[in-house]
Amino acid sequence: MRVSARGRIVGWMLAVVGLALSISIFATWTVLLTRLDDRMNLEFSNEAEKLRRYAATALDPRTGRPVDDVAELLTGYLAYNPPDRWETFFSIVGGQADRVTAVEAPARLDTDNTLVRRLAAATRPDHGVTESAAGTVWYVVIPVTVSADPRPGHFVVASFYDLHREEIVGAIRVLSLSAVAALGLAGAAGWFVAGRVLAPIRLVRRTAEQISDSSDLTRRLHVRGDDDVAALAATFNHMLDRLEQVFVAQRHFVDDAGHELRTPITVIRGHLELMGDDPADRAETLALVTDELERMNRMVDDLLTLAKAGQPGFLDIEEVELADLTVSVVAKSRALGERRWRVDQVAEARVPADRQRLTQAMMQLAANAVRHTAVDDLIAVGSAVRDRMVEVWVRDSGPGVPAADRERIFARFMRGTGQTGGHDGAGLGLAIVRSIVEAHGGTVRVVEAPGGGACFVMTIPIRTTL
Ligand SMILES: Nc1ncnc2c1ncn2[C@@H]1O[C@H](COP(=O)(O)OP(=O)(O)OP(=O)(O)O)[C@@H](O)[C@H]1O
Ligand SMILES: [Mg+2]
Repeated sequence: MRVSARGRIVGWMLAVVGLALSISIFATWTVLLTRLDDRMNLEFSNEAEKLRRYAATALDPRTGRPVDDVAELLTGYLAYNPPDRWETFFSIVGGQADRVTAVEAPARLDTDNTLVRRLAAATRPDHGVTESAAGTVWYVVIPVTVSADPRPGHFVVASFYDLHREEIVGAIRVLSLSAVAALGLAGAAGWFVAGRVLAPIRLVRRTAEQISDSSDLTRRLHVRGDDDVAALAATFNHMLDRLEQVFVAQRHFVDDAGHELRTPITVIRGHLELMGDDPADRAETLALVTDELERMNRMVDDLLTLAKAGQPGFLDIEEVELADLTVSVVAKSRALGERRWRVDQVAEARVPADRQRLTQAMMQLAANAVRHTAVDDLIAVGSAVRDRMVEVWVRDSGPGVPAADRERIFARFMRGTGQTGGHDGAGLGLAIVRSIVEAHGGTVRVVEAPGGGACFVMTIPIRTTL
């Protein structure tokens, strides 16, 4: 079963509040019980003290002299000192229960002969516990003697412990009931508040579900307010923006690739269909088809490079010696064609970069330069460091790139408009150059070289980490 976030929040809240209330009720209960014990003990010692004082000062109203009858003394004290609530006093004279407080007690103790006998045996103030019809009773018995009276007297103070306790139980019961009510109220309020807080999140979830069900990446969440939930929705929308961009780019990529690959396939099929039996004709067709397949192969390789470019792990970063890179590119490029190859300038710096990919980009530029120049034309390569930026360029003395084309030639499958005949490039070279430079966090542009040729400049920021 799935527990809703709302249920969980309210559950936790109730558990915590419930625990807190239980602890406070239990603490109250313990404190009240301890107080009760203390109060009863204090009451007992008070009663003993009062009785002592009374006995010392009591005078017989008829004679005006100290009382000489123990029964009279105790009866006088009973009349003089009424018991508190849930309390009863009685006197024992000569081993027999004598008088009881006028106020009616919850249960009679003086009628319990065994108890009376036991109490009458006390020679010193003593206390104890006994059972009665009204539950447990705590008592003290104080022996009292009057010098002129040979009969032993006892004064008994009894407190109905269970009844006192019952009062506390009642209070705790009321407390518990109100705690339950408070808990219920807190639960209801929590449920309501959690519902309100979670409602926008539910909305986000539902929309997310709809989007994933319909695969419609153009949908967005409605962002309202500026709280955490709105921030969540905004983040979610932002993620959708990125996803949508990636999907659109991917779809275009696949469309373009499919479209471009169709041409060589059509060419190959056409040649094969028209192929006759003549061995010379066959050889020619075979050469054409092989050539076309070769081109397709290169195109697929380039497409794979482009597809990988946006992904993590595309670059393999190491320390690259710029001077070394520049010179080695020129050395390798010489094989591309008979040109006047030059090194313009080299930067004496080591920068973190992917040496192989940078070489690949520069070779693409060199290949383009060769393609747009003729024998003995100039092609120069150079590198420099300016404002924590590395600049690497390849320039030629060819026709240059018309201003109108300078942006668009970097796009996939884009060839220049002023194209000389016989050129069968796929238009992927500069796209690859751009992806490599962008993966390094840099930019590439084409400017007019001195003398009118094209000068392709890659600018890469020097970063300690990439
Ligand atoms: N050095 C240059 N001089 C003049 N135009 C250039 C130069 N380099 C590139 N271009 C123009 O930019 C276009 C795109 O170049 P890109 O390298 O992307 O494709 P390509 O060379 O045509 O094909 P591929 O590189 O895939 O074989 C070229 O078709 C050309 O018109
Ligand atoms: Mg090219």
